[in-house]
Amino acid sequence: MVFESALSALRTILRRVGNSSLIPRRLKRYTGRGHLHFITFSCYQCHGALHGTASYGNLRWAACPRKMPESQTQNQQASAPVVGVGTTGTQTLAPDPWEAAYLRFETPEEEIRKFIGRLKRLGAEQWPRDAEIVELFCGRGNGLIALQRLGFARLEGVDLSPRLIAQFKGSAKCTVADCRKLPFADRSKDVLIVQGGLHHLPTLPDDLEQSFAEMQRVLRKDGRVMFVEPWRTPFLTLAHFISEISLVRRLSNKMDALATMTAHEIRTYTQWLTNPDMIRALARKYFVPVHESFAWGKWNFVGTPR
Ligand SMILES: C[S@@+](CC[C@H](N)C(=O)[O-])C[C@H]1O[C@@H](n2cnc3c(N)ncnc32)[C@H](O)[C@@H]1O
Repeated sequence: MVFESALSALRTILRRVGNSSLIPRRLKRYTGRGHLHFITFSCYQCHGALHGTASYGNLRWAACPRKMPESQTQNQQASAPVVGVGTTGTQTLAPDPWEAAYLRFETPEEEIRKFIGRLKRLGAEQWPRDAEIVELFCGRGNGLIALQRLGFARLEGVDLSPRLIAQFKGSAKCTVADCRKLPFADRSKDVLIVQGGLHHLPTLPDDLEQSFAEMQRVLRKDGRVMFVEPWRTPFLTLAHFISEISLVRRLSNKMDALATMTAHEIRTYTQWLTNPDMIRALARKYFVPVHESFAWGKWNFVGTPR
């Protein structure tokens, strides 16, 4: 009986390994030794161009040669061509490998459920339903859908990626813009939310300070910010360790997506995870904490503007 169960489990594993080996690998990264593999990464400033190569032990990086984009507002159609950041005219944008991994990490429905749980835990149900809320670094906008399902209607999103914004199918107005220079008037919004965006900023502390200063400028006096960002807790270290195991990546599309995303954002991600004191001090410089917690590899911060 035990033997039969073990055999059946082994068959399942072999079948899954067999199937997953049919999935094309995005990058041929591995040399066989975990810390020697080389990756290329794409730029979040101009989207697409490769400015450098990186390895975990020997990081090399070149600054983006392009000028930062003017912000461009867009009401999305999933299939419509989108306006490229830093370009003129309309163009169809080539896929970005980090974005491709991000899109397969979770289904939209999984992500929306996660966001709803998070928003409730961090007190969103107490906010007035007519609050003007902006999801910054909104990506494909599932945070906006979560807010909509909680009953909020005055919603906007901002993200640097026209490709991700083009996937948003909700009614909120989304703008392609840089969160270091927000396209909003002073004291015009009630709540600003960032979920997993700040760790993409290229240069700390300057870009973080600039983003926080912009958020403080845009928030009404009694407004609030909510940040949920990766944090180096034992859980996060374990999750990354597991996601880097080759067999785990073959068995789990989600783990492979996590490892691929991490590899592509390794410079900013490492910069973020290794500066916890500076990040917390900067957050306190601009916002009075109302709630702060660290759990499941995340920093959760809610604050009001100083
Ligand atoms: C990890 S995704 C988070 C997306 C979304 N908040 C979520 O949790 O699904 C990070 C996002 O930040 C965007 N981003 C990176 N730098 C940015 C910047 N300077 N201004 C605006 N968006 C930026 C990227 O395009 C990407 O969509």
